[in-house]
Amino acid sequence: MDELYKECAACTKCPLCEGRTNLVFGSGNANAGIMLIGEGPGENEDLQGLPFVGRSGQLLDKFLQAVELERSRDVYIANIVKCRPPKNRDPKPEEQDLCIKWLRRQYQIIEPKIIVCLGRIAAQKIISPDFKVTRQHGQFIEKGGVLMMGTFHPAAILRNPNNKEAALADWFALREKMHELGIN
Ligand code: URA
Repeated sequence: MDELYKECAACTKCPLCEGRTNLVFGSGNANAGIMLIGEGPGENEDLQGLPFVGRSGQLLDKFLQAVELERSRDVYIANIVKCRPPKNRDPKPEEQDLCIKWLRRQYQIIEPKIIVCLGRIAAQKIISPDFKVTRQHGQFIEKGGVLMMGTFHPAAILRNPNNKEAALADWFALREKMHELGIN
């Protein structure tokens, strides 16, 4: 993973690299059974070089704690794009396409049993282009021998706290699935 980080840090394939302070490659346990995938770094992530360290990250930590998962031990967290899009706009399809090869290689190293997509951008890129978070959140889908689930992006819950209960249920469903598969 360290080698891959170095390669990724030298990537200039799309213009997002020009505006970044730091590359946000990923963090957590590279041997974890669970991989969490977000869309792209925000301001705090860009400044610290780590995924989900701002307000969204604090909420993500609460969900993880609620199901007794430890960020550095039980999961690996990465994003679809590794450099911050300007003004936190959605990463463009061509930026996603150019960056996803890094995520694929992270996935090949980690070999997770379960992938959790945080929000629409990740779920539509990883699970299915027509994925609807409000309708399909919490459902496990098998693809290429891996179980995948999409849930609400923590930032979306901060904007609309009405979805908090539903999101929490997804995290409990993850916990249940982990038990079934004998992870942790
Ligand atoms: N939102 C994301 O999708 N990823 C991060 O790393 C932070 C916020």
